[in-house]
Amino acid sequence: MKNVCMIGTGYVGLVSGACFARLGHNVICVDKNEERIKNLKKGIMPIYEKDLKEIVEESYKNSRIDFTCDLGRAVQKSEIIFITVGTPADKKTGDADLSYVFAVAEDIARHVKNEYKVVVLKSTVPIGTAEAVEDIIKKAKPKAKYSVVSNPEFLREGFAVSDFLNPDRIVIGANDEKSLKIMKELYKPLTDKAYPLMHTNTTTANMIKYASNSFLAMKIMFINELSDMCEKAGADVQDVAKGIGRDSRIGHKFLNPGPGFGGSCFPKDTMALERMAKKFNSPLKLVETTIAENNARRFKMISKIDAALAGNTRGKRLAVLGVTFKAETDDMRDSPSIGILSELHLMGVKLDIYDPQGKKHGPEFFPYAKFHESAEEALKGADAALILTEWPQFKKITAADYKKLLKTPLVIDLRNMYNLADMKGIIYHSLGRRTVK
Ligand SMILES: NC(=O)c1ccc[n+]([C@@H]2O[C@H](COP(=O)([O-])OP(=O)(O)OC[C@H]3O[C@@H](n4cnc5c(N)ncnc54)[C@H](O)[C@@H]3O)[C@@H](O)[C@H]2O)c1
Repeated sequence: MKNVCMIGTGYVGLVSGACFARLGHNVICVDKNEERIKNLKKGIMPIYEKDLKEIVEESYKNSRIDFTCDLGRAVQKSEIIFITVGTPADKKTGDADLSYVFAVAEDIARHVKNEYKVVVLKSTVPIGTAEAVEDIIKKAKPKAKYSVVSNPEFLREGFAVSDFLNPDRIVIGANDEKSLKIMKELYKPLTDKAYPLMHTNTTTANMIKYASNSFLAMKIMFINELSDMCEKAGADVQDVAKGIGRDSRIGHKFLNPGPGFGGSCFPKDTMALERMAKKFNSPLKLVETTIAENNARRFKMISKIDAALAGNTRGKRLAVLGVTFKAETDDMRDSPSIGILSELHLMGVKLDIYDPQGKKHGPEFFPYAKFHESAEEALKGADAALILTEWPQFKKITAADYKKLLKTPLVIDLRNMYNLADMKGIIYHSLGRRTVK
């Protein structure tokens, strides 16, 4: 059993903290957001993640997890100190903005005393960050005993708890044996179940994280470009994806065409890797193209919607199903819906939105739109439906439902939710497939 603290109680800090508590460790979750900490003590989660509330409540009852704004107390009580704050893209340069990480490193430095600590970078950080954090602590406390480790997180929002407890791999970037041993003890409950743990140096660990996200982003953009070509060539992208995905070297995942990738990780991580590569004078052309094509994707989607509405968009009422960047999350960060809907708004389209989780943050992004309590409510009397997020419950809406609810039976599906055969009787536009009329 280890004493651990997580500094930053967001998606990664809270989920990892809760899961470490579930694995039997003592965890303190720290955040500077007082309301977040107060709510967590009352069992109110700041984010939506399956099973998270139950684990947090159970661990809080068993005193395995605590929540505080007092970083000093948490640092002093913990052998392992995780940094789990955000590393957003710098708006001007596209580099990872490390100001939150460095601010936490300075706070840690203020509070470390004589006991050895392992400071773990779980935030996604560029090469050289472990060394920079090491320097910050050394400058403030030259005699402090500590190691800085990189332990990137690979969880997927929407499946975060399950991913954390059933990882494909655990990557420990540690440059010394002492910190590696402690990290191995921390993850023992998982490695005992045969989940693989990889030991690398900190630089390689950083590269693994950025390369994973960039590869997945590239895979998404590959199928998106193929889907555009399929539409023109008369092929069916769903069958193409199935056909190539059955090759075990390629695999089925991340081969679903859509409106482009978004979320809190892929856009900023691809940009950060591109920037890093240039600094090492080793440009990554595939990543550069992936970023550029993803940025252009929203305009392609607007053209597609405009064409489906026969260029007659002004004054049209569109029922929008889904605005979160993907299903099973309430996260709106960099969601493709933001660019697409703001453009449609400027084109004079009236927007009626339903998203199972999007009502929480959605109104901040779409103040001009009306949010509804159900898909049925949003669809009623609209000129067309636009599907932006692949929430599984939208699959249950049938062609007959669309026909009954919409003023004109026109569906523009940017997630390929339905089989073409099931959409007979309405006008159904999707990606990389023929239009059903
Ligand atoms: N969200 C994901 O799915 C995911 C997956 C893998 C890795 N990551 C990486 O993990 C890191 C965190 O991402 P996130 O989505 O959890 O971010 P987040 O924005 O949800 O959470 C960050 C938290 O840190 C807190 N914070 C900021 N500065 C602080 C300080 N000085 N002291 C205490 N608390 C502070 C904020 O209040 C916030 O609650 C990023 O580097 C991200 O790239 C995220």
